[in-house]
Amino acid sequence: MFGLLFFVLMAHTAYGDVSYSFPEEMKRGYVIGNIAKDLGLDVNRLPSRKARIDTEGNRKLYCDINLNTGELTVAERIDREGLCGKKASCVINQELVLESPLELHLVILNIEDINDNSPQFTESVVKFEIQESADKGSRYLLDEAHDADIGRNSVQSYTLQDNEHFILNVLSRENGIKYGQLVLNKELDREQQKEVTLILTAVDGGTPPRSGTVAIHVTVLDANDNAPVFSQAIYKVSLPENSPVDTVVVTVSATDADDGQNGEVTYAFSHLSELFRQLFFLDTVSGEIKLKGLMDFEEESSIELRIQAKDGQGLASHCTVIIDVTDVNDNAPMIVINSLNSPIPENALPGTEVGIINVQDRDSENNGQVRCSIQQNVPFKLVPSIKKYYSLVTTGDLDRELLSDYNITITAADEGSPPLSSTKNIYLTVADVNDNPPVFQEQNYRAHVHENNKPGSSICSVSATDPDWRQNGTVVYSLLSSDVGGAPVSSFLSINGDTGVIHAVRSFDYEQLKSFKVLVLARDNGSPPLTNNVTVSVFITDENDNSPQILYPSLEGNSLMTEMVPKAAQAHSLVSKVIAVDADSGQNAWLSYHIIKATDPGLFTIGVHSGEIRTQRDISESDSMKQNLIVSVRDNGQPSLSATCALYLLISDNLAEVPELKDMSRDESSSKLTFYLIIALVSVSTFFLTFIIIILAVRFCRRRKPRLLFDGAVAIPSAYLPPNYAEVEGAGTLRSTYNYDAYLTTGSRTSDFKFVRSYNEGTLIADLTLKKPQSAVDDLEGLDAEINDSFEVRLVFL
Ligand SMILES: *[C@@H]1O[C@H](CO)[C@@H](O)[C@H](O)[C@H]1NC(C)=O
Ligand SMILES: *[C@@H]1O[C@H](CO)[C@@H](O)[C@H](O)[C@H]1NC(C)=O
Ligand SMILES: *[C@@H]1O[C@H](CO)[C@@H](O)[C@H](O)[C@H]1NC(C)=O
Repeated sequence: MFGLLFFVLMAHTAYGDVSYSFPEEMKRGYVIGNIAKDLGLDVNRLPSRKARIDTEGNRKLYCDINLNTGELTVAERIDREGLCGKKASCVINQELVLESPLELHLVILNIEDINDNSPQFTESVVKFEIQESADKGSRYLLDEAHDADIGRNSVQSYTLQDNEHFILNVLSRENGIKYGQLVLNKELDREQQKEVTLILTAVDGGTPPRSGTVAIHVTVLDANDNAPVFSQAIYKVSLPENSPVDTVVVTVSATDADDGQNGEVTYAFSHLSELFRQLFFLDTVSGEIKLKGLMDFEEESSIELRIQAKDGQGLASHCTVIIDVTDVNDNAPMIVINSLNSPIPENALPGTEVGIINVQDRDSENNGQVRCSIQQNVPFKLVPSIKKYYSLVTTGDLDRELLSDYNITITAADEGSPPLSSTKNIYLTVADVNDNPPVFQEQNYRAHVHENNKPGSSICSVSATDPDWRQNGTVVYSLLSSDVGGAPVSSFLSINGDTGVIHAVRSFDYEQLKSFKVLVLARDNGSPPLTNNVTVSVFITDENDNSPQILYPSLEGNSLMTEMVPKAAQAHSLVSKVIAVDADSGQNAWLSYHIIKATDPGLFTIGVHSGEIRTQRDISESDSMKQNLIVSVRDNGQPSLSATCALYLLISDNLAEVPELKDMSRDESSSKLTFYLIIALVSVSTFFLTFIIIILAVRFCRRRKPRLLFDGAVAIPSAYLPPNYAEVEGAGTLRSTYNYDAYLTTGSRTSDFKFVRSYNEGTLIADLTLKKPQSAVDDLEGLDAEINDSFEVRLVFL
């Protein structure tokens, strides 16, 4: 518009234009130029010509003319920017009007820019959000700054505050406007610096230059560039074994410098064995490790756990937890019996090793230090040997007969606090050694036997005890051979080797043998055997087996003794005396005399014990001359035996008066009785003889094949027999182990009888088996003699 107007005016005026250039914002009165001079006008006429500055329309008058000098001055503030904005040239057209003649001159005011405006940014703060992970070289566009001035006075350059991360790159558009770019020169780290504030300065090209600033506010956005970091690489804890469940072992902690999810740390075990997985619990959020089970020092004394910490984006790091498990005395010692010599012979010397014991304790140090002991009252002790071995040795003599077994209690205690202990029982038996001879229960034995005893009847029994075990304590009895009145003792007694019962072999006769002694040997079955002996005194007691024997008046011969009694004999005068003896002794020989029949019973008496026959009264004339007395002599045995004799008394003073005496001796009735008695005796004897013959016949048939039955008893090695042992056996030792069955004819078997048979055969078999074999035949010959002997015995018995 102005330009167009300018050209219209230029064309319109004929008087030429004038133009001035001057800077804007000049003070009022500033002389722009001497317009009068420039236009060739007469200064003096100016007032008269009413020279004035005019403007088209109602525009503002920016300049004025000094009428006195003809100078054009600034009349109004001229702001180029206000008038022309960004136009490259700013021109104001004013008119100089002169009258008389009317003259119109165009005054062109060319307003020059001055740097009166600073660059300005639209906002005072520029905000950026930049990922910390942004690469070096990343560019960020910056707002350009505006400057109202133009040309050189507009924005010419930008400067950025010094900083370590960004540099500024300044660029210009096609229209020459400059703008800046932030270039990342060094990576950001949110964790170091969350925000960066920079001042960007825009500078124009004026002189002096003006500048404007803007704050650039860079917020660094987080990137997951940080792995969690544990507070310690290795956590070391010490925990007693068997700590209760839920005990907190340790709390691991890792921090992640990142923000939000990137910094959320979770924990996990890495590579955990199944065993530990059952033992430990890890809180994934808090990092607290707790016990789920019981730790055992003996299994694992040091536990290493790898813990992984991971953030939300999967960045992970590791740490190690080392748990030093400390020992707790939780294992009782264990006693192991490595070897045991049981049974131990009772003659073991003190110090003999009986067993080896090993003691183990799984705990360590003091908790595993074990002391071993046994109870006090046993003859054993523990001797420490290498390491944790002990040997159990005897400390004294053992005696199986006193104590045959020991229940040894081994106690092992460790030194923990509280200590643990355990016990083990060792059962030890003591083996027997034949160290005890048989001992008879009595110092000596006395046996009383009635004479006329049954052969085979037992007369007494001896008994010896041997406390040793089994065969070492099995007692066998035998008789020591000796002579009794010239006969071997075996013909008198036999002994049951097992029971010690002594039997009479024959019937004794007190009148021949009143007492004798035998030695009984007790021998055990040990090897070597031990023996002992005892004396058995056998006393034979009398039996009333002998009737009184009347010595006077003698029954022998035919001469009948007749005593003469004087007629004048007075009362109590001794007439005769019956003299009798009795082979028995004591009461059995204490004789009493009685008159059992007398011609005149009142005339004579007999001294009951003296046998003296005396008159009872005076003899009178009326008494018969011939007096017969039958006197009975009776002993005091039970039952008593008696003998009778007849006494013929003749009361006369003269032998010539003696009548036929023979008639007196015969008594018809008594002779008849004697006859019958003889017949009866003969018939009974005959019957018995036949009976015996039958028995013998049967017995001989059976004897051909004796039946030997062994019952498996212990065989006695002949080497240990005393030299005379076999003879001793032969002399009457009966082993019940040699059993025979002897069968006689029906009904004739009695135990006594059988015994006699057994005895004989047993003796023979013992001879045969135990004696030297070559003499067996001789012995067999001797058998017959023995059998015959036994027959005799049997006859006596029968
Ligand atoms: C040993 O004694 C213990 C107790 O003192 C007992 O329990 C055990 O049965 C005994 N052993 C024998 C074999 O007697
Ligand atoms: C008997 O004692 C001997 C040693 O004198 C011994 O060797 C044997 O074993 C013992 N017998 C028994 C059954 O104990
Ligand atoms: C019987 O025993 C005694 C000691 O008790 C001994 O001196 C004697 O030799 C023994 N006699 C026989 C025959 O063994």
